[in-house]
Amino acid sequence: MTTIHPTPNTDRLAAERDQWVSSSVIGRPFFVEKAEGAKLWDVDGREFLDFVGGIGTANHGHSNPDIIAAVKEQLDEYLHQCFSLHSYEPYIDVCRLLCQCHPGDFEKKAFLANSGAEAVENAIKIARYATGREGIICLDNAFHGRTLMTMTLTAKVKPYKYALGPAAPEVYRATGPYPFRGISSDDAIEGLHRLFKNQIDPSKVAAIIYEPVQGEGGFLPMPDDYPMRLHEIAAEHGILIIADEVQSGMGRTGTPSAVEHYGVTPDLMTWAKSMGGGLPISGVSGRAELMDCVHKGGLGGTYGGNPLSCAAAKVAITQVLDSDFQDSAKALGARMRARLDDAAKRIHAIGDVRGLGPMLGIEVVDAQGQPDAETTAAVVNGAFDKGLVLMAAGVDSNVIRVLVPLVATEAQIDAGMAILEACFEEAGAR
Ligand SMILES: Cc1ncc(COP(=O)(O)O)c(C=O)c1O
Repeated sequence: MTTIHPTPNTDRLAAERDQWVSSSVIGRPFFVEKAEGAKLWDVDGREFLDFVGGIGTANHGHSNPDIIAAVKEQLDEYLHQCFSLHSYEPYIDVCRLLCQCHPGDFEKKAFLANSGAEAVENAIKIARYATGREGIICLDNAFHGRTLMTMTLTAKVKPYKYALGPAAPEVYRATGPYPFRGISSDDAIEGLHRLFKNQIDPSKVAAIIYEPVQGEGGFLPMPDDYPMRLHEIAAEHGILIIADEVQSGMGRTGTPSAVEHYGVTPDLMTWAKSMGGGLPISGVSGRAELMDCVHKGGLGGTYGGNPLSCAAAKVAITQVLDSDFQDSAKALGARMRARLDDAAKRIHAIGDVRGLGPMLGIEVVDAQGQPDAETTAAVVNGAFDKGLVLMAAGVDSNVIRVLVPLVATEAQIDAGMAILEACFEEAGAR
C-alpha cells in the first residue's frame, strides 16, 4: 500500500492539468496509469484499492477481460455508423438485454444514448409526449445529471445548479424520504399530496422520476413501502413512473435493477454507468407502447449506442443477468455490511450505515448527530494517503459512498475496511 512516495509525474501532470483543463471540473491530483479489478496504479507507481469504481461505472471490475476482448473484436469490424443512418446488430442486442433487465410482465422496447443525463432527458421527453402533460415531479436529494433539464431535477444547489440557470420549466420537487433524518415514507407521501394541492394538479403531471437508491444525494435507499405507494398514487392519476437506475442499476445492489428489491415495475427506466463496462453508453427502457409513441426522428443522436460501446455493453449486461454474478455481488455486499455495522458500534461518527446489497453509504455525524462534512473529508483524504480511494456524497457532503467493483476479493474488501476504520480513528472520530 501507499507510503510517502515521491510523485514527480503526478506533480508534472497536475501542473499541466492546471494549465490546460478547465478548473470547473473537480478532481484531485491523481493520474491513473493502469487499472485492473478493484485496483488502480498511478503514474508514480503507487497502488490503490478502488472503492469508488469510476462512481459506479466499474461494477464489472476495471479492465474486465471479457469486455476488453469484445471491444477489440468490434474494433476490427467497424467503428461509428450512426444508428439512425445504418443499423447494426449490437445495438439491437443491447436493447433486448436492457428490456430483460426491466422488471414487469409487459412488452418492452429500448433506446440508446451516451450518458446518464441524456437517458433521463429522453425518458422525460417520452413521458411528456405519451401523456400530453408537462409537469415532472422529482424528489429531495435527487441527482439526475448536469444538462439543463437534469440539473433542474437535481437537488443540490452547489455545485450543480448555482448560477447555471435559468432552470427548465415545469419541474416540481416533492419531499423525499430520509428516515435517518426523521423523514418517513408517510411524511414523503403526505408531501406529495401537499404538492398536488399547492403546486400542480396531478392531472397535469406527466411523470414522477426517482432513484430507488439515491446516489449523489447520500446513498439513500427508498424505505421498503415507499416505491409501491408512489407507483400506486401515480397509477391512480395516469402519471408515469421513471426509475433512474443510472447508479443503482447493473448489479450495483446485487440485482440488475434496484427496483426489483421493491417489487415495482416502472413504466420507464434509465440506465448508464456500468451498463457500458467502462465505455460511454446509456439507455431508456420501457413499456413498448410508450417507447413507440414519439413520432419518427423525435428520438435519436449521432453517437447514441455506438458500436464499440454496444460491444462492451452486450458483455456487461449479460454478466449482470447471470445469477453467479448476482450471487457474488450479494455476498460482497453482505460482507461489507457486516463490517460496517460492526464499525458503527465502535465509531461514534458513523451515524448510519445504509444501502441495498453492495451499494452502501456511511453517514458521518458529529457529537450532536449533525452532518459532519469535515470528518468525512478527513477520512476520504486520509484513506487516499493510505492507498484507498473513497468519495463523499450527500447534500451535506457527509456520506461516504461505497461503489467498490463487484469483483473485489474478500482480502481486498477486508483491507479497505481496515483502512477506513483506521482513518476514522486518525480523524479523532472514535
Ligand atoms: C442516478 C443518476 N442519474 C443520472 C446521472 C447522470 O449520469 P451522467 O453523468 O452519465 O450524465 C447520474 C450520475 O452520477 C446518476 O447517479
